[in-house]
Amino acid sequence: MKIELRHPSGPRRSGRRDAYVAFALRDPKKGSDLSTVPEEVREAALAAAPPEAGADGTLWTAPLPVGAAAARLYVLGAGAAGRLSPRRARTLLRTAVKILMKQGERSAVVDFPFLPERMSAGEAREFLLRTAALSDYTFDRYKTRKEGTPAPGVDAADWNASGPAWKGVTPKEAAKEVLEAAALAKVSSFVRDLGNTPACDLTPSLFADAARREAKGRGLAVKVLGRKELKKEGMGGLLAVARGSAEEPRLVVVEYSGGRDGAPPVALVGKGITFDSGGISIKSAEKMGEMKWDMMGAATVLGVLLAASDLSLPVNLVGLMPLAENLPSGTAYKPGDLVRFRNGKTAEIDNTDAEGRLILADALDYAGEWKPSAVVDYATLTGAAVVALGLEAAILFTADDALARALVSAGERTDERLWRLPLWEDYKENLRSDWADMKNTGGRWGGAVNGAMFLKEFAPVGVPWAHLDIAPTANYDHEHAGYGAGATSFGVALTLRWLRDRAAGKKRSR
Ligand code: BES
Ligand code: MN
Ligand code: ZN
Repeated sequence: MKIELRHPSGPRRSGRRDAYVAFALRDPKKGSDLSTVPEEVREAALAAAPPEAGADGTLWTAPLPVGAAAARLYVLGAGAAGRLSPRRARTLLRTAVKILMKQGERSAVVDFPFLPERMSAGEAREFLLRTAALSDYTFDRYKTRKEGTPAPGVDAADWNASGPAWKGVTPKEAAKEVLEAAALAKVSSFVRDLGNTPACDLTPSLFADAARREAKGRGLAVKVLGRKELKKEGMGGLLAVARGSAEEPRLVVVEYSGGRDGAPPVALVGKGITFDSGGISIKSAEKMGEMKWDMMGAATVLGVLLAASDLSLPVNLVGLMPLAENLPSGTAYKPGDLVRFRNGKTAEIDNTDAEGRLILADALDYAGEWKPSAVVDYATLTGAAVVALGLEAAILFTADDALARALVSAGERTDERLWRLPLWEDYKENLRSDWADMKNTGGRWGGAVNGAMFLKEFAPVGVPWAHLDIAPTANYDHEHAGYGAGATSFGVALTLRWLRDRAAGKKRSR
């Protein structure tokens, strides 16, 4: 959905929009409160208000007079007053837009009169604009539409720049923020599309093609390593995982140089398993199809690189995306196999379903070649992470307290929240192997930590490194927390926030 700003001191568009969306409150004691409904439509809102108006989940509509900014008014109840959580804000916007879509409204004026918690006004503006732009996101590429019917969604929304988030912002500043939020939303929607595309149409080589196309289009440097180059690099982990599939593995490297010449880049590494059947240690059939999203780490990294370029961030970045398909076959790697990685270390394969850490091992080590100032990896690494945190946060692992603070803070302010778990050496014995330097699994307990401990053996020595297990938040199998079913693009906004904080020289932002 395209967002345009409706600034109180800016020009007003002449045409009439289909719908006007406003929000009302209801205090449990004092009753309905329509003071959050803009004056220009308040009379119409009052006239049609139901007894419970403003209560959480209430909705009412009213026709608007000729000359109003839109044809019909929709008022949604937001419940009790006070600051609301970003998650509630996202849910309210998504609910509103879904109602518009159901009613066939193609354009709207939106007035969102609240400031989400944990964010500064500027961060709130960015969050609200990008959330609104994504609120009609649908992945319907594979649905046949009757000829002449338009794609689902709301085409355009005029965003009232008069709420609490907009105090003192000039139309010129606001216009720039709208453009930035639109760029971020566009990249996020591309990242979601990558995730939602089924494995039949997103193999490692097709992912690499898409990455090359998008990166080249922005003038970014791209390098794609195929089987031959991976062999030359000694990337035994990535090659082992890929062996069961007819699809060749790839390692995509994208570089963005927006920072000082020669300044060390931040390296971002993302797990790109385009389908994870588990391999010989095959998963159960139930919900196996969800493993088409096992490449969201790589998609996140690609998204950050693309958005950094679109927003001209003053940083240097290198993104590494190891890509493979994990399938069982006559050529597949097997439990008991001993694998040697690029850095010379070896692992005993205990379970071929613990494949993400094997492809990341080689890519993390390779990242060291860029002498990065920090390394962050993103991976839908373990089911145990989902068991630990549910669907509301991703797990952060890092030994570096300053990096932890910066990433957690960035996540709080973008509503892509992280929760830290330990990386203590005490856990290392879980990975002990009789035959190799370590096993690729660590037993039943602490599954997410074991995965992180494995990766730790490959992170460039002496460089601050963080591992984000995004399995809890990368995709949902149902509409959740204001996200539609499917990929969320979790991590893109948080990483951009962190990179901007870093560039601004802030060690921690609050
Ligand atoms: N891609 C999965 C992790 C996953 C599971 C992500 C569920 C999202 C939802 C990963 O490759 C995997 O299979 N991990 C195993 C590791 C185990 C064998 C040590 C797991 O979590 O069961
Ligand atoms: Mn697996
Ligand atoms: Zn996996």
